[in-house]
Amino acid sequence: MLNVALPKGRLGEKVYGMFARAGFECPAVLENSRKLIFDNEAAGVRYFWVKPSDVAIYVERGAADVGVAGKDILLEYRPEVYELLDLNVGKCRMAVAGPADFQDREDRTLRVATKFSRIARDYYAGKGRDIDIIHLNGSIEIAPILGLSDVIVDIVETGTTLKENNLAVLETIIPISARLIANKSGFKFKTGPIQRLTEELRKEVDRA
Ligand code: PRP
Repeated sequence: MLNVALPKGRLGEKVYGMFARAGFECPAVLENSRKLIFDNEAAGVRYFWVKPSDVAIYVERGAADVGVAGKDILLEYRPEVYELLDLNVGKCRMAVAGPADFQDREDRTLRVATKFSRIARDYYAGKGRDIDIIHLNGSIEIAPILGLSDVIVDIVETGTTLKENNLAVLETIIPISARLIANKSGFKFKTGPIQRLTEELRKEVDRA
Protein backbone atom coordinates (compact mmCIF):
# COMPACT_ATOMS: atom_id res chain seq x y z
CA MET A 1 0.00 0.00 0.00
CA LEU A 2 1.32 3.45 -0.93
CA ASN A 3 0.31 6.01 1.70
CA VAL A 4 -0.24 9.44 0.21
CA ALA A 5 -0.76 12.72 2.15
CA LEU A 6 -2.73 15.21 0.07
CA PRO A 7 -3.18 18.89 0.96
CA LYS A 8 -6.83 19.51 1.84
CA GLY A 9 -8.54 22.00 -0.43
CA ARG A 10 -8.74 23.02 -4.06
CA LEU A 11 -5.08 22.33 -4.81
CA GLY A 12 -5.37 18.85 -3.26
CA GLU A 13 -8.37 18.02 -5.44
CA LYS A 14 -6.46 19.07 -8.54
CA VAL A 15 -3.47 17.01 -7.44
CA TYR A 16 -5.68 13.98 -6.73
CA GLY A 17 -6.89 14.27 -10.36
CA MET A 18 -3.27 13.98 -11.50
CA PHE A 19 -2.70 10.93 -9.27
CA ALA A 20 -5.90 9.30 -10.57
CA ARG A 21 -4.86 9.84 -14.20
CA ALA A 22 -1.44 8.46 -13.28
CA GLY A 23 -3.13 5.14 -12.38
CA PHE A 24 -3.63 5.66 -8.62
CA GLU A 25 -7.38 6.07 -8.57
CA CYS A 26 -9.55 6.13 -5.46
CA PRO A 27 -12.84 7.82 -6.42
CA ALA A 28 -14.11 7.94 -2.81
CA VAL A 29 -11.51 10.67 -2.17
CA LEU A 30 -13.73 13.22 -3.89
CA GLU A 31 -16.92 12.20 -2.05
CA ASN A 32 -18.36 15.05 -0.07
CA SER A 33 -17.89 13.64 3.42
CA ARG A 34 -15.96 14.37 6.59
CA LYS A 35 -13.85 11.26 6.11
CA LEU A 36 -10.11 11.88 5.94
CA ILE A 37 -8.69 8.49 4.93
CA PHE A 38 -9.51 6.54 1.77
CA ASP A 39 -8.20 3.18 0.53
CA ASN A 40 -8.19 1.55 -2.85
CA GLU A 41 -6.62 -1.83 -2.26
CA ALA A 42 -6.81 -2.82 -5.91
CA ALA A 43 -4.78 0.24 -6.94
CA GLY A 44 -2.52 -0.22 -3.88
CA VAL A 45 -3.07 3.29 -2.58
CA ARG A 46 -4.34 5.02 0.55
CA TYR A 47 -4.97 8.77 0.62
CA PHE A 48 -5.19 11.10 3.65
CA TRP A 49 -6.41 14.68 3.56
CA VAL A 50 -4.20 16.81 5.80
CA LYS A 51 -3.66 20.50 6.37
CA PRO A 52 -1.37 21.71 3.54
CA SER A 53 1.31 22.91 5.94
CA ASP A 54 1.31 19.50 7.71
CA VAL A 55 1.92 17.30 4.64
CA ALA A 56 5.71 17.46 5.05
CA ILE A 57 5.44 16.38 8.71
CA TYR A 58 3.48 13.23 7.79
CA VAL A 59 5.99 12.43 5.06
CA GLU A 60 9.12 13.24 7.06
CA ARG A 61 7.97 10.98 9.91
CA GLY A 62 6.90 8.17 7.61
CA ALA A 63 3.14 8.28 8.37
CA ALA A 64 2.85 8.89 4.62
CA ASP A 65 5.24 7.48 1.98
CA VAL A 66 4.65 10.39 -0.36
CA GLY A 67 2.80 13.68 -0.32
CA VAL A 68 2.36 16.98 -2.05
CA ALA A 69 3.71 20.11 -0.42
CA GLY A 70 4.31 23.66 -1.55
CA LYS A 71 7.89 24.73 -2.16
CA ASP A 72 7.22 27.50 0.40
CA ILE A 73 6.75 24.91 3.15
CA LEU A 74 9.84 22.96 2.03
CA LEU A 75 11.98 26.11 2.11
CA GLU A 76 10.58 27.27 5.43
CA TYR A 77 10.72 24.00 7.39
CA ARG A 78 13.43 22.09 5.46
CA PRO A 79 11.96 18.66 6.23
CA GLU A 80 14.24 15.65 5.68
CA VAL A 81 12.39 14.30 2.64
CA TYR A 82 13.16 13.64 -1.01
CA GLU A 83 11.73 16.19 -3.41
CA LEU A 84 10.88 14.06 -6.45
CA LEU A 85 8.95 16.24 -8.87
CA ASP A 86 7.71 19.75 -9.55
CA LEU A 87 4.00 19.24 -10.25
CA ASN A 88 3.74 22.69 -11.82
CA VAL A 89 0.43 23.44 -10.07
CA GLY A 90 -0.32 25.68 -7.10
CA LYS A 91 1.88 28.27 -8.73
CA CYS A 92 2.53 31.53 -6.93
CA ARG A 93 5.55 33.47 -5.72
CA MET A 94 7.15 34.44 -2.44
CA ALA A 95 7.52 38.20 -2.43
CA VAL A 96 8.34 41.26 -0.39
CA ALA A 97 5.35 43.59 -0.41
CA GLY A 98 4.51 46.93 1.09
CA PRO A 99 3.13 50.34 0.20
CA ALA A 100 3.94 50.98 -3.49
CA ASP A 101 5.94 54.10 -2.59
CA PHE A 102 7.94 52.41 0.18
CA GLN A 103 11.56 53.59 0.35
CA ASP A 104 13.89 51.43 2.40
CA ARG A 105 16.08 53.47 4.75
CA GLU A 106 19.33 51.56 5.17
CA ASP A 107 20.13 53.37 8.41
CA ARG A 108 17.15 51.67 10.08
CA THR A 109 16.42 48.05 10.85
CA LEU A 110 13.73 46.88 8.43
CA ARG A 111 10.65 45.47 10.17
CA VAL A 112 9.35 42.45 8.27
CA ALA A 113 6.06 40.72 9.13
CA THR A 114 5.71 37.15 7.86
CA LYS A 115 4.57 33.59 8.34
CA PHE A 116 7.80 32.55 6.62
CA SER A 117 10.47 33.69 9.08
CA ARG A 118 13.23 31.48 7.77
CA ILE A 119 12.67 32.40 4.13
CA ALA A 120 12.65 36.10 5.09
CA ARG A 121 15.75 35.74 7.26
CA ASP A 122 17.67 33.87 4.53
CA TYR A 123 16.63 36.36 1.87
CA TYR A 124 17.72 39.44 3.77
CA ALA A 125 20.87 37.74 5.11
CA GLY A 126 21.83 37.19 1.46
CA LYS A 127 21.53 40.91 0.91
CA GLY A 128 23.35 41.78 4.14
CA ARG A 129 20.28 43.72 5.32
CA ASP A 130 19.50 43.95 9.04
CA ILE A 131 15.90 43.05 9.78
CA ASP A 132 13.53 42.55 12.66
CA ILE A 133 11.17 39.63 12.02
CA ILE A 134 7.62 39.88 13.30
CA HIS A 135 6.22 36.38 13.06
CA LEU A 136 2.47 36.29 12.34
CA ASN A 137 0.16 33.40 11.50
CA GLY A 138 -2.09 34.96 8.87
CA SER A 139 -3.64 38.16 7.49
CA ILE A 140 -0.08 39.41 7.13
CA GLU A 141 -1.19 42.21 4.81
CA ILE A 142 -2.55 44.31 7.64
CA ALA A 143 0.82 44.60 9.40
CA PRO A 144 2.22 47.46 7.26
CA ILE A 145 -1.18 49.16 7.16
CA LEU A 146 -1.27 49.35 10.95
CA GLY A 147 2.40 50.26 11.23
CA LEU A 148 3.31 46.94 12.85
CA SER A 149 5.91 46.38 10.12
CA ASP A 150 7.47 48.21 7.17
CA VAL A 151 7.01 45.35 4.70
CA ILE A 152 5.75 41.78 4.55
CA VAL A 153 7.17 38.58 3.10
CA ASP A 154 4.27 36.50 1.88
CA ILE A 155 2.80 34.41 -0.89
CA VAL A 156 1.29 36.28 -3.82
CA GLU A 157 -0.92 34.34 -6.18
CA THR A 158 -3.33 36.58 -8.07
CA GLY A 159 -2.21 39.77 -6.30
CA THR A 160 -5.81 40.53 -5.29
CA THR A 161 -5.16 40.56 -1.53
CA LEU A 162 -2.33 43.06 -1.95
CA LYS A 163 -4.33 45.25 -4.31
CA GLU A 164 -7.39 45.34 -2.09
CA ASN A 165 -5.19 46.43 0.80
CA ASN A 166 -3.31 49.10 -1.20
CA LEU A 167 -0.06 47.18 -1.18
CA ALA A 168 2.24 46.17 -4.03
CA VAL A 169 4.96 43.64 -4.72
CA LEU A 170 8.31 45.32 -4.08
CA GLU A 171 10.61 42.34 -4.78
CA THR A 172 10.07 38.75 -5.89
CA ILE A 173 12.02 36.29 -3.76
CA ILE A 174 11.28 32.96 -5.47
CA PRO A 175 8.63 31.23 -7.59
CA ILE A 176 6.62 28.60 -5.71
CA SER A 177 4.77 25.47 -6.88
CA ALA A 178 3.59 22.14 -5.48
CA ARG A 179 6.16 19.33 -5.21
CA LEU A 180 5.89 15.57 -4.89
CA ILE A 181 7.89 14.56 -1.82
CA ALA A 182 8.80 11.16 -0.39
CA ASN A 183 9.84 9.74 2.95
CA LYS A 184 13.49 8.72 2.74
CA SER A 185 13.22 5.18 4.09
CA GLY A 186 9.78 4.66 2.50
CA PHE A 187 11.48 5.41 -0.79
CA LYS A 188 13.94 2.59 -0.16
CA PHE A 189 11.24 0.01 0.67
CA LYS A 190 8.71 1.09 -1.94
CA THR A 191 11.05 2.23 -4.70
CA GLY A 192 9.05 0.50 -7.45
CA PRO A 193 5.63 2.05 -6.83
CA ILE A 194 7.08 5.45 -5.92
CA GLN A 195 9.14 5.59 -9.10
CA ARG A 196 6.21 4.42 -11.17
CA LEU A 197 4.04 7.13 -9.60
CA THR A 198 6.72 9.77 -10.21
CA GLU A 199 7.15 8.80 -13.86
CA GLU A 200 3.39 8.71 -14.53
CA LEU A 201 2.98 12.08 -12.80
CA ARG A 202 5.83 13.48 -14.86
CA LYS A 203 3.88 12.52 -17.99
CA GLU A 204 0.81 14.29 -16.56
CA VAL A 205 2.90 17.42 -15.92
CA ASP A 206 4.31 17.31 -19.46
CA ARG A 207 0.83 16.82 -20.94
CA ALA A 208 -0.64 19.82 -19.06
C1 PRP B 1 -2.45 33.63 1.12
C2 PRP B 1 -1.35 34.68 1.26
C3 PRP B 1 -2.02 35.94 0.81
C4 PRP B 1 -2.99 35.44 -0.26
C5 PRP B 1 -2.41 35.70 -1.62
O1 PRP B 1 -3.24 33.73 2.23
O2 PRP B 1 -0.88 34.74 2.60
O3 PRP B 1 -2.72 36.55 1.86
O4 PRP B 1 -3.14 34.03 -0.06
O5 PRP B 1 -3.30 35.35 -2.65
P1 PRP B 1 -3.71 36.37 -3.79
O6 PRP B 1 -2.45 37.00 -4.31
O7 PRP B 1 -4.39 35.50 -4.81
O8 PRP B 1 -4.64 37.39 -3.20
P2 PRP B 1 -4.18 32.58 2.78
O9 PRP B 1 -5.43 32.55 2.01
O10 PRP B 1 -3.39 31.32 2.83
O11 PRP B 1 -4.52 33.13 4.23
P3 PRP B 1 -3.63 33.71 5.42
O12 PRP B 1 -2.17 33.74 5.04
O13 PRP B 1 -4.17 35.09 5.64
O14 PRP B 1 -3.91 32.78 6.54
